[in-house]
Amino acid sequence: MVIVGHRGAAGNAPENTQAAILEAKRQGCSWIEVDVQLSLDHEAVIFHDTTLERSSNGRGHLSAHSLRELQQLDYGTWYSPQFEGEALLSLKQCLDLCMRLNFKINLELKLVEGQDPNRLVAVVQSCLDESRFACDDILISSFDHQVLKIFQKDAPHYRYGHLFDHLPDNWLQQCEAIKAQSCHCNIEHLSRAQAQAVKEAGYQLILYTVNQVEQIEPIKDLVDIVISDYPERFLG
Ligand code: G3P
Ligand code: MG
Repeated sequence: MVIVGHRGAAGNAPENTQAAILEAKRQGCSWIEVDVQLSLDHEAVIFHDTTLERSSNGRGHLSAHSLRELQQLDYGTWYSPQFEGEALLSLKQCLDLCMRLNFKINLELKLVEGQDPNRLVAVVQSCLDESRFACDDILISSFDHQVLKIFQKDAPHYRYGHLFDHLPDNWLQQCEAIKAQSCHCNIEHLSRAQAQAVKEAGYQLILYTVNQVEQIEPIKDLVDIVISDYPERFLG
């Protein structure tokens, strides 16, 4: 079973920062997941929430700030004073860092309401084109079906995964439409029967966010990949 560090290793360092990515490396991961969204000036940055308050010392919507403004903020102190001064990563910086650390990377694309999905896709694709990542080392995922459809049509050479919270009735159609290799499900809402259906349809089953080893026991035989804030608990 492959273990993917969620937002780096978000359980032990401030999520989606260099510190969290380095921590995932220290814990022995070969894959990490990070969240990608666009700043006001259409730069791709690594950040989870739509608003800044929880995981930085900024205020308001991330998409209302330029990259330069976002780079002035502190993304570590909210987690612990030990991480004071931790910076925002642009997608370019993140890809460079992951390349240096020999990570494979799951980019989760977050489309903010009102944003143009074509723009998000174009910006991320251009960052990937500039990077020297092997296509097979990039897994593109999103809850947003439209984003995935556009991305996959333009760049069929990457791996694709569809994210679901509750698995909808038409999950198979959605996965087929984006030529997904994997189906990413919330462990909290997935039944064993649903997990079996995903596997029988030929998809890799990826579960998020699994922080206790016991959580996967009932469906361990069906799971290919686990996304965890605490990768060490699974790798140790
Ligand atoms: O990609 C798995 C997981 O990160 C999806 O949910 O909200 O943690 O980005 P979220
Ligand atoms: Mg995510």
